[in-house]
Amino acid sequence: MIKILMVCLGNICRSPLAEGILKSKLPNNKFIVDSAGTANYHVGSPPDKRSVTVARKYGLDISSLSGRQFNVADFDTFDYIYVMDESNYNNVIALARNENDKDKVRFILNEIYPNQNYDVPDPYYGGEDGFENVYKMLDEACTKIAKSLI
Ligand code: 4NP
Repeated sequence: MIKILMVCLGNICRSPLAEGILKSKLPNNKFIVDSAGTANYHVGSPPDKRSVTVARKYGLDISSLSGRQFNVADFDTFDYIYVMDESNYNNVIALARNENDKDKVRFILNEIYPNQNYDVPDPYYGGEDGFENVYKMLDEACTKIAKSLI
């Protein structure tokens, strides 16, 4: 099994979308995809309704996902840890115990724009457009991830 973790701040907007999108592009007998937030604000909560809605528009059901907080054991469980933005990156790296942990952490948009360390914008305080925009970015990035892993 290859294990991939998607990380954002709250684990209710961006990373559950990234989880659902990447899962849909990989065979589930060889890959495990999960998501987590660096913060604990939404532990146990379902994804934001706007993420559920945009996912449904593209044929994915992410409504049963549940928020959880990133923790140091995730470095042992997962092979790849994709963060959505620089703040997530800094928060995850701060928990890394060694270089091996750090090497697992990547900016998800570097799959499309290598080495640029661009942020997936946080759509939480914006409107529906932000979620559509985030969906498209994540879909493109996840297509690249899936191609590189299969
Ligand atoms: P996410 O978005 O990190 O993409 O899940 C956010 C969700 C909630 C909050 C911030 C960002 N919040 O401040 O509660």
